[in-house]
Amino acid sequence: MSRQKRTGLLAIISTADELVDSDVYIDLEQSVGIPLRLKCEGFNFAGSVKLRAATSMVASGIRSGLIDEGTTLVESSSGNLGVALSVVAAARSIRFVCVTDPKCNPATVKLMRALGSEVVVVDQPDESGSYLSARKALVRELCERDAGFVWLNQYENPANWLAHYENTAPLIGKQFPGLDVLFVGAGTGGTLSGCAHYFRENRSAVRVVAVDTVGSVNFGMPPGPRHLPGLGASVPMPFVDPALVHDVVTVPERDAVRMCRRLARHGFLLGGSTGTVVSGAARWLAEHDPERSLTAVAISADLGDRYIETVYDDAWVQDTYGILLTEREDSNG
Ligand SMILES: Cc1ncc(COP(=O)(O)O)c(C=O)c1O
Repeated sequence: MSRQKRTGLLAIISTADELVDSDVYIDLEQSVGIPLRLKCEGFNFAGSVKLRAATSMVASGIRSGLIDEGTTLVESSSGNLGVALSVVAAARSIRFVCVTDPKCNPATVKLMRALGSEVVVVDQPDESGSYLSARKALVRELCERDAGFVWLNQYENPANWLAHYENTAPLIGKQFPGLDVLFVGAGTGGTLSGCAHYFRENRSAVRVVAVDTVGSVNFGMPPGPRHLPGLGASVPMPFVDPALVHDVVTVPERDAVRMCRRLARHGFLLGGSTGTVVSGAARWLAEHDPERSLTAVAISADLGDRYIETVYDDAWVQDTYGILLTEREDSNG
């Protein structure tokens, strides 16, 4: 999948959708005392792990003849996949319409527009309170109205999880031959399912632990309010199969925010879901590996700049979670 030329540390790309596989892992031991390596997936032109799913789905659509020069791509996204598809569409001169909702960061909407995409923000959830269902309903309507529209459908397109089965997981496996446990957050479940299938088939001793957010129904928990985009779901996701994972950790958003802000005080400005995954991993490791002997890796989906008006804004945190984070809490590492 990755087409960049590599000469030692030098990577040269020609189009913005080429995956520059970052070898950067943060060892969280020194900064926050957690025995965990964090794979940073935010270092590409889409700024997130979703470039993997986007390139994989578009390549598969072109191969199968679903996408041609007359196609307008349309997708429902809470942000990161929308940006990733905007990058891929711009790199390949394809028109792209993203259907999103008010939980999408305003900066992300601007980013997609800057990349040449059209963005439609649905402002009402459906009768059950789900924005996701409302977004999907609009996507279906657009496709019915115009035969040139193609919905990649990240929720059910196998090219989504195959991107991680073929790339993300083998990369981690190669870089950590002694890997014991991998922590992965679940949105559509593409990353989780791809990694879980890969390790089950190739390195069955590796435990894959899913990290979900309180309020997400992905692992059978009750629905509830969520404010961070990317991770969690308001309706069950087809790729999320609890039988595929060894364990599930559920993290309240306020703990995710606290962890993000703790990491930021060490210079690591990472996305909201990274706070969720690291917080869940820290809890799981404290319980299951008190001797700190396991080799543990977690996947960080994106960097923190897109969350500057939310996770990293004191007033937003207080309004949203009713908590006032003190300097001490923020920097308690
Ligand atoms: C911001 C963000 N984007 C994308 C993902 C990956 O989601 P998916 O389950 O759709 O592969 C995550 C999951 O951690 C995320 O937090």
